[in-house]
Amino acid sequence: QWTTASIVDDQVARIRAQVGDGHAICGLSGGVDSAVAAALVQRAIGERLTCVFVDHGLLRAGERAQVERDFVAATGVKLVTVDARQRFLEALAGVVDPEQKRKIIGREFIRVFERAARDLKAKGDVEFLVQGTLYPDVVESGGGTGASNIKSHHNVGGLPDDLRFTLVEPLRSLFKDEVRRVGLELGLPETIVHRQPFPGPGLGIRVIGEVTADRLETLRAADAIAREELTAAGLDSEIWQCPVVLLADVRSVGVQGDGRTYGHPVVLRPVSSEDAMTADWTRLPYDVLERISTRITNEVAEVNRVVLDVTSKPPGTIEWE
Ligand code: XMP
Repeated sequence: QWTTASIVDDQVARIRAQVGDGHAICGLSGGVDSAVAAALVQRAIGERLTCVFVDHGLLRAGERAQVERDFVAATGVKLVTVDARQRFLEALAGVVDPEQKRKIIGREFIRVFERAARDLKAKGDVEFLVQGTLYPDVVESGGGTGASNIKSHHNVGGLPDDLRFTLVEPLRSLFKDEVRRVGLELGLPETIVHRQPFPGPGLGIRVIGEVTADRLETLRAADAIAREELTAAGLDSEIWQCPVVLLADVRSVGVQGDGRTYGHPVVLRPVSSEDAMTADWTRLPYDVLERISTRITNEVAEVNRVVLDVTSKPPGTIEWE
């Protein structure tokens, strides 16, 4: 019978056997999988692991601190943060097409990660790359379901030949719920272990229209309020995720404070789902919706309207782009 503790012991032993006295790097995304994979490898090889966190500027409020402060405090991991915010903004300037955004974000991400990996390799003998591949990912990339190609998802892959690494994939035989239990066993904070899914391209695909620094700031503020209120209402375990989407090219007339406004709408997209392949819109309590709406329109200057997405998947996808 496998207990969580025995999974940890077993994986730590496997990692030690694979890596020997070598060095490894791991890209952290802020998500559960990479965090748990890194924590396992850290437990196995200690400071011979270096984690790299790319801040692409498309993160939500507090996510960088969660990695730099909470994850590091919980694991003692050696972390390098690359501040690439300006670079991503420049690469995304003028781009409105969703797939184009994804391609650009994926490409820039690999370039930034590659540069960091190259620098680390130059300093030492890094031969291993840690990835948080789960069992369902293994199955999906082998067989593949048609629906997974509707939007191109990105992962760190496609590194050039001279940057070849041997992959360390300690989660390859685990399902998501097992990964979360392993994370808790390793002492990771609840906020990381029970984080809801968040797409790799981040807020870049939740600003409908061109991505700019101001628009990101607006969306980040609205998103933080929605998350705060959902958590305060104890609804985190009931919803799969709740994207907040900024319709940056749409304006509507409103009245706020002293007079007429001409601001942007944000969309709340709370969904219930088992696996994100299909989803239903979550019937959130009216009082929670009201608090979110009131706070966003009071506290976020550019937003004068909050609308609720009541579309299932299909026909809608969870994200708007
Ligand atoms: P959709 O919008 O396709 O989303 O219904 C299904 C799930 O996937 C997430 N998602 C992504 N995750 N890169 C990711 O890593 C992406 O490009 C991407 N697009 C969507 C979405 O948040 C939902 O959980």
